[in-house]
Amino acid sequence: MTTHQRYLIAGNWKMNGVLEEARQFIRALADNPAPEHVEVALMPPFTLLHPLAEKLSSRGVRLGAQNVYYEPKGAFTGSISPLMLRDAGCRYVILGHSERRDIMGENNSSIRHKLDAAWEAGLEPILCIGEHLEERKSGATNKILADQLAILEKTDAERQLTIAYEPVWAIGTGVTPTIDEVRDTHAFIHQRLMTLGSDRRVLYGGSVNAGNAAELLGLPGVDGALVGGASLQAESFSAIIAAAASCANN
Ligand code: PGA
Repeated sequence: MTTHQRYLIAGNWKMNGVLEEARQFIRALADNPAPEHVEVALMPPFTLLHPLAEKLSSRGVRLGAQNVYYEPKGAFTGSISPLMLRDAGCRYVILGHSERRDIMGENNSSIRHKLDAAWEAGLEPILCIGEHLEERKSGATNKILADQLAILEKTDAERQLTIAYEPVWAIGTGVTPTIDEVRDTHAFIHQRLMTLGSDRRVLYGGSVNAGNAAELLGLPGVDGALVGGASLQAESFSAIIAAAASCANN
């Protein structure tokens, strides 16, 4: 259950989707428009940002990117700057996703640079944090999360920021933490955020689907969901949005 204004349901398409698929997805999504009290955002690959921007905004869906580089421009072959994302119509940018940390070698230091650059350009970062399975098993979860959140030290509490708690072992596996684990971990994250200067929306991510969304979103301290696999089909994504709507009404 969110204590913030509105649930955010964000779809992270990762490296999936070409233009025709995206058009069909948006047409299907339009059959089930999101209610006012649920904010919906889509993070397609970079190549689809410009072509989708207007279609999404006219349907009340916000646009986001999955990553960004921290320099404003210059000789950084293959990189995209925060200003370019703004220019393409983005409001959000995902930072620190575990796939970028684990596969692309990102660390807290580069993520902090990206955070500052995203804010500078007027983007709202969605900062992903989460522990690996062995860390969860050894009782190190809170320490790992506290370390990842420590990059927020000496940041401006007024800046827009959303956190996504994504246990790495729950991503794309069909396995989710227990209800108690999600509730306790979200409580811990909210507490840390307050210590760091300002509470934030905290999304849950990791194998969210049409079947488990209502239960997860109904938990205290869960302010929305970052959805991977289940955001690729309009039907399952719409069902998750509907689950958020019904939780908001309760
Ligand atoms: P998943 O991915 O929903 O496919 O588990 C979530 C994410 O990586 O953001």
